[in-house]
Amino acid sequence: MNNAEIIELAHQNLANTYGCLPLAFDHGEGAYLWDAEGNRYLDFFCGLAVTSLGHSHPRVVEAIRAQAGKLTHVSNVFHTEPMARLAARLSAAFGGGKIFFGNSGAEANEAAIKLARRWGSNEGGGRFEIISTLNSFHGRTLGTLSATGQEKYQQGFQPMVPGFRMVPYDDFAALESAIGAQTVAIMLEPIQGEGGVVVPQPGYLARVRELCDRAKLLLILDEVQVGMGRTGRIFAWQHGNVRPDIMTLAKALGGGLPIGAMVARPEIAASLTPGSHGSTFGGNPIACASALAVMDALEKDRVIENAAEVGGYLMERLREIAAQFSNIAEVRGQGMIIGVVLKHEAQSVVDACIKERLLVNAAAGNVLRLLPPLTLTRAQADDGLKIIERALRAAPGRRKQAV
Ligand SMILES: Cc1ncc(COP(=O)(O)O)c(C=O)c1O
Repeated sequence: MNNAEIIELAHQNLANTYGCLPLAFDHGEGAYLWDAEGNRYLDFFCGLAVTSLGHSHPRVVEAIRAQAGKLTHVSNVFHTEPMARLAARLSAAFGGGKIFFGNSGAEANEAAIKLARRWGSNEGGGRFEIISTLNSFHGRTLGTLSATGQEKYQQGFQPMVPGFRMVPYDDFAALESAIGAQTVAIMLEPIQGEGGVVVPQPGYLARVRELCDRAKLLLILDEVQVGMGRTGRIFAWQHGNVRPDIMTLAKALGGGLPIGAMVARPEIAASLTPGSHGSTFGGNPIACASALAVMDALEKDRVIENAAEVGGYLMERLREIAAQFSNIAEVRGQGMIIGVVLKHEAQSVVDACIKERLLVNAAAGNVLRLLPPLTLTRAQADDGLKIIERALRAAPGRRKQAV
């Protein structure tokens, strides 16, 4: 099928939930994707921060092949080696934790919310309320949507699940004064991704950790978008050494296969007992084998170091470029999650980049979001930067002066 045929067939039959771009991809390798007609695209999008090792990474391909030929599913009524080994690896990376596996970020966060409530119902004296932040994104299930501080996603789906309270992100005083008798947890993204790559002030997360300890609240950190090396550390909370009580992962964890994980301190996770929560596909052996290959690559191939180095280079170059343009308010981010904050909508710049075969996307309306593979080379970074610079030049508002 050619691009147009694939797109038409999809539109005829899929529910209309996505504002899809008119592109259909056939295969990928490393930082590149090819469409159904053989055109090559440089990928600074990674399927929304999922394919962090690039496409068809040899370790991931080999692990999936080997596991698919061996065993694809048995359910959580039984054990499998990939699930047992992945739980051990994640526990060690977290510094000692118990793992619950699901299939997505929303499912990982749903598990975190349920664990916080369950812990609150016995250890926490009946407390159930979770404080979350405005502009956050935690998922599309009713529970995680209720924890998401963006009304546009809730339109038409109200009433939301009760027991959530919103405060502005990166506003410690607002957070502190929102704590009430029923509060059991604070749920945060270490960097708000969908909210427009919002990086909190240094020390914010540490103060929240200290507040949670003082008020006997659980700290839930949603690492679904920023975890697994994207910020230049395996987990974003490691930058400030702010270990949460519960952490959630998904996206990059499976190297392209659907998997989500909730990781909790053992004494908190003890509130979950047999039958209290579950997921038929959770811990699927192929997804776990793929995630083990991702962990190997992160730990053995200098991938995280590369994310920090090349991400830092991208940010530096983007700040130099930004200095020449009057339509850029700020360049922000950490490692390989970068937001170029524009003074106008970002979609026109996204469209111009895609026309030149660079995949990027827009977040929060005016932020050009870059989520390149952690394995990006400097030469590939330079190729992308040239396209971004040309796209910015063509955007409304643009240059400070003719150069
Ligand atoms: C921080 C964060 N949490 C949760 C989710 C939801 O993940 P999923 O779409 O896998 O359910 C996302 C998705 O973008 C996210 O960025």
